Amino acid sequence: MTAYDIIMKKRRGSELSNDEIEWITKGFVSGDIPDYQMSALLMAICFNGMSPEETSALTSAMINSGDTYAPSKELGQICIDKHSTGGIGDKTTLIAAPICAACGVYVPKMSGRGLGHTGGTIDKLEAIPGLRTSLTHSEFISIIREAGFAISGQTGSLVPADKKIYALRNATATVDSIPLICSSIMSKKLATGADGIVLDVKVGDGAFMKNYGDAEKLAEAMIRVGKLAGRKCTAVLTNMEKPLGMAVGNAVEVVEAIEALKGNCPEDLYEISITLAAEMLFLAGLGSPEKCRELASEALSSGKALKSLEKMAELQGGDPKALYDYTLLGIPTHTKEVISDRDGYISGISCEKTGLISLSLGAGRKVKGGDIDPTAGIIFNKTVGDYVKKGESLGKLVTSSSCDIDAAAEEFIRLFRFSDAAPEKAPSVIKIIRN
Ligand code: URA
Repeated sequence: MTAYDIIMKKRRGSELSNDEIEWITKGFVSGDIPDYQMSALLMAICFNGMSPEETSALTSAMINSGDTYAPSKELGQICIDKHSTGGIGDKTTLIAAPICAACGVYVPKMSGRGLGHTGGTIDKLEAIPGLRTSLTHSEFISIIREAGFAISGQTGSLVPADKKIYALRNATATVDSIPLICSSIMSKKLATGADGIVLDVKVGDGAFMKNYGDAEKLAEAMIRVGKLAGRKCTAVLTNMEKPLGMAVGNAVEVVEAIEALKGNCPEDLYEISITLAAEMLFLAGLGSPEKCRELASEALSSGKALKSLEKMAELQGGDPKALYDYTLLGIPTHTKEVISDRDGYISGISCEKTGLISLSLGAGRKVKGGDIDPTAGIIFNKTVGDYVKKGESLGKLVTSSSCDIDAAAEEFIRLFRFSDAAPEKAPSVIKIIRN
């Protein structure tokens, strides 16, 4: 077997065998296959795709590169995970995971940091002072046992193949390939070892999948891979044509999630969070989808989910008082209110550009491993469908970084599209695909 033959085979559009996929993945992780050959293969995959069998084989080869876990064996109870394909303002984990925990379902959540213009749960959570996301495995398990869920960063030994391949994809314009995204996400989810996985597949301008057709293909590919690995999977296709909720950043998103758990939640964030939580409860066997939705809503409205988040934050070393006194999350040194210069209905908000503005304010990383400003971000005062009058505030930019907040404000105002008539309301949850 040679890397050259494997690249040529894929370049010609033929299907690779399990052995070839396993061999080249192993060789790349060990350093025997150089970056230039793996890059060529990734590009051939981008152009010619992969069959379901090849995608499954790549996922398995990636899983085999590192450690795997079986939390339900350790905890003696079914465990359910969730994953988002990445979006703007996506704080649903901070709402759905405590809801599940409050309903008695364990959630072992390993999350990532921000990627490009999209945010990451780990960066957001670390806005809570003292909260540690780097947990040993035994800490992770004992926090789940006590609080019902834990959120940890991914350790270096969880799918090392993905770290190496992702870095190459990022540098070679090979990120947006359905089999590559599928194997990247599913290898990490399957290695984490939950029995059921709810996949939030974002669709639209702020997502990796810009159109519905591609999002559906990605959802189906991930469900297929999960099913072949013996896991229960559900995909929820959700709208990412506008930022989710009213806050984008780190501390500002934590505040929005806590407020949601206190009963103050924007409609789109509520709908998506409750749907994800209900689907997680359904996979855990708590009843029909309708019954699970009732359980999820009750866990939120009763305040039990807020208590679960408080417990988890405390066990992970965070200051639980920050859930009630938001100044403890940090006070931005600069704020800028952005005022509308016209009347009209807001018919759209450019989503990917919102992520880029948040990044420019310091909420994301401009370079790999760089620092982020937990206080930086955007708080919208108006959203799609709202009527705005000239002179009213569209939103507020906040930061403690040395960035050009005036330039960001000019970009911010350009995010908004206006119409004279009220725009048609787009659904937040587009489709649920259960296996
Ligand atoms: N998120 C991942 O973990 N991997 C991808 O390839 C894309 C989004």
